Amino acid sequence: MKINGKEYRTIWFESNIVKIIDQTKLPHQFTIKELKTVKDAINAIKVMEVRGAPLIGGTAAYGLALAVQENNNPEFIKKSAEELIQSRPTAINLKWAVDRMMKKLSGINSDQILSIALNEAKEICDEDEKFCENIGINGLKVIEEIYNKKKDTVNILTHCNAGWLATINWGTATSPIYHAHKKGIPVHVWVDETRPRNQGANLTSYELNEEEIPNTIIADNTGGILMQRGEVDMCIVGTDRTLSNGDVCNKIGTYLKALAAHDNNVPFYVALPSSTIDWDIKDSKNIPIEERNSEELSHVEGVDENNQVKKVLIYPKKSKAMNLAFDVTPAKYVTGLITERGISDASSDGLKQLFKK
Ligand code: MRU
Repeated sequence: MKINGKEYRTIWFESNIVKIIDQTKLPHQFTIKELKTVKDAINAIKVMEVRGAPLIGGTAAYGLALAVQENNNPEFIKKSAEELIQSRPTAINLKWAVDRMMKKLSGINSDQILSIALNEAKEICDEDEKFCENIGINGLKVIEEIYNKKKDTVNILTHCNAGWLATINWGTATSPIYHAHKKGIPVHVWVDETRPRNQGANLTSYELNEEEIPNTIIADNTGGILMQRGEVDMCIVGTDRTLSNGDVCNKIGTYLKALAAHDNNVPFYVALPSSTIDWDIKDSKNIPIEERNSEELSHVEGVDENNQVKKVLIYPKKSKAMNLAFDVTPAKYVTGLITERGISDASSDGLKQLFKK
């Protein structure tokens, strides 16, 4: 998608270096960062220069290719794979991508291993782009249906950034929105600010602005009253891990939005590529929920009147804070799962019909 009118993907490989858009600098500075070693990739995932489930999967895949490029030693590659998987705990795409890379590389002789690793990392990224495009084509039908009934702008609420910046391109939750916009359906997006890191305000609103899609940032607690007032036609969010029973783990606050949607009969959709489905964990209590540094809550970053980035403390110095990064929305609150293969019920039967597991 576009930034300043130029088409980008979020990650690419050029002259033996992996390049990413540094998301910790957005929306105030657009910076391309170079990852030269697997340590660089692990760090980029940890500090969230790249974030969003599909993109951290793609970065881990390229990270492993960087490990091969650096030191083609089986022990080093295995250790790098483990460290990549551990760099963030909740999004299943990380493990999915690393396992796929390791499977591809097993038994490959040393002359070919680097080109095979690079090809597979590119394949993982290309596939994600294609899957996200298909999510858009499938999700477009829901937006179109609402528009055909309403004959007026479709108001869509989203949480966090499940946009193209969270994937390789298109996004998951935003892909149906981009497809609707391209088709000339009038859409307006309510963008949850998404405290504490403000991925909604800093990234979703930014990327929608770049594509000229009307959007309004709201505080995270505003969605409920908007739904009561009939100002939300549907919600679409992304996910970091969806269980085979349809339970959805996503950015903290998603669950409360789903409850409000349920109470107000607002359809609540979750958009995901199949790489985000965890077929193994059966009980959502077993999903590892990331707890991040409480400084993400107590401090806020922005630019001052001289365009200088500043970080300031907003809490009492003595106060403790707690920063859980994800929550789980039970399947019963999810209207449908929008995937690359079609839309399914959030249930084992629904997912089985699409993915025949
Ligand atoms: O902590 P983040 O910014 O990586 O969290 C991202 C989300 O929660 C997204 O909604 C999710 O990864 C889906 S991305 C298409």
